Amino acid sequence: MSADSLEDLFVDGLQKIYYTEQQLEDALEELESGAEDEEIQSAFSEHREETRTHIERLEEVFEALGQEAEGKQDRVVDAMIEEHEEFTEQNPDDKVLERFNLAAGQKSEHYEIAAYGNLIPLADQLGMEDAADTLEETLREEQDALEKLSKLGEGYDYGEIPSEA
Ligand SMILES: [Fe+2]
Ligand SMILES: [Fe+2]
Repeated sequence: MSADSLEDLFVDGLQKIYYTEQQLEDALEELESGAEDEEIQSAFSEHREETRTHIERLEEVFEALGQEAEGKQDRVVDAMIEEHEEFTEQNPDDKVLERFNLAAGQKSEHYEIAAYGNLIPLADQLGMEDAADTLEETLREEQDALEKLSKLGEGYDYGEIPSEA
């Protein structure tokens, strides 16, 4: 990455979160289809819809910069998805997997919150107030999604799963 200016730093962050959001849209679809609990399923499904909007908002920000919307590989989201695949390959009990999926969702929201939390002040510093407002809307939805998933995790009904192997 050539990073000589604040704008380069901003674009680098935008490209990585653009890639991340795209990966998460697919991942959320998988989490949604793997959920048995209706509330959990709808939490994943609602946030997948929001994630589509996050992608569109990022496209608006690229446009405001006069840049083509382009993703850049983000190793953090790749690692999270790989971790999820490794766990799934062990054929966990359905309930265990559903609880694992909630945690995976929470982790990804924390990551997005960190990314947007950094992009917003950068947009402000670049004098891009509209872009900052657009990103702020997304940040709020990530925070709401995190709260919802955290509550579902805290109140999770483990049913008959033994607490020890
Ligand atoms: Fe998002
Ligand atoms: Fe999210």
